[in-house]
Amino acid sequence: MRAIVLKEIGAPENLVLIDIPTPAITENEVLVQVKAIGINPVDAFVRRTKEALDWVYQYKGTEEHIILGWDVAGVVVETGSAVTRFKKGDEVFGNFKFVGQANAYAEYVAAPEAEMVLKPANVSFEEAAGATMAALTAWVSIMDHGQLKKGDKVIIHGASGGVGHYAVQFSKHFGAYVIGVSAASGREFVLGLGADEFIDYETQRFEEIITDADLVHDTVWSDDERHIERSLKALKPGGTLLSLIVYPDPEFIERAKAEKDVTVLRVNVRHPEESYLRDMQAIAALLASGAIKTHISSIFPLEEMAKAHALIQTKNTVGKIIVKP
Ligand SMILES: NC(=O)c1ccc[n+]([C@@H]2O[C@H](COP(=O)([O-])OP(=O)(O)OC[C@H]3O[C@@H](n4cnc5c(N)ncnc54)[C@H](OP(=O)(O)O)[C@@H]3O)[C@@H](O)[C@H]2O)c1
Repeated sequence: MRAIVLKEIGAPENLVLIDIPTPAITENEVLVQVKAIGINPVDAFVRRTKEALDWVYQYKGTEEHIILGWDVAGVVVETGSAVTRFKKGDEVFGNFKFVGQANAYAEYVAAPEAEMVLKPANVSFEEAAGATMAALTAWVSIMDHGQLKKGDKVIIHGASGGVGHYAVQFSKHFGAYVIGVSAASGREFVLGLGADEFIDYETQRFEEIITDADLVHDTVWSDDERHIERSLKALKPGGTLLSLIVYPDPEFIERAKAEKDVTVLRVNVRHPEESYLRDMQAIAALLASGAIKTHISSIFPLEEMAKAHALIQTKNTVGKIIVKP
């Protein structure tokens, strides 16, 4: 089969197409013929960062090939002897073996049955491949950690991006008042997703406009000042700060509680099995009903993986980038 391997840590061009054997499956896995691959910022981070490769990819140093990627949609072509939920021909999608070696940049993947869900028939492989890590992260943040309620006022940073565009849609669907934050170029897109208000981070300071949010979904890293300090100011007493990038230190967490009664939570997409399936099935149902949609800004063929990486690492992605074997 064709697969994209990382020759060595570094630039997008280090991702090269080669032929390797189709993977063997274990008794609890399914062999999936991949129809679409979702690309995430972490893919580019792992590609260029030794520590991330060691931790996120669980690199041992003895691998014949490094194959990145964790998000796929495709067709089951073989099932392991203990598999009960799927049969040949089923269309599935999922974010799998994260953290670890999922080897998703390939024509076929060996995926644990427990980490795949059925793709709704009316949702394309491309849309499903997008609604994996990014959608799951948005769900875990807003719904699991944030416990969003109807009428909540929610600030979504990075509202035009992969995670953010799902976070806006989940929040709206469940009855929140949504403020989306991105650069001005994202205004029409974010409002089109259903956001009630838009804030342009290049010319406006969100914490001077909103000071009574129930939830802030913070996906922003900044070197000059801690973005989570600003997000804290935008929350009302009793609110919740959801931090997807920064690991807030205990002193910050205690101060937020003591001074403002704000709960600070670090959000990770990493999933225990039972909540993973529950959350992914909820996402599949929302996709099937049309309540949420994956917006795809670019589709590349497998051999152009380097272009997909060059684009995702700009950090200015609108919706999702998809690669097709
Ligand atoms: N903790 C976890 O488990 C987890 C899981 C998934 C992702 N993440 C992280 O979450 C972040 C977002 O992921 P993603 O997939 O959505 O990335 P993405 O598709 O690249 O989107 C990033 C978005 O952030 C916006 N943005 C940049 N600077 C901003 C600022 N100062 N204020 C508000 N918005 C800003 C960009 O909009 P403009 O183009 O308008 O600037 C872009 O739409 C990434 O850093 C990713 O690594 C964490």
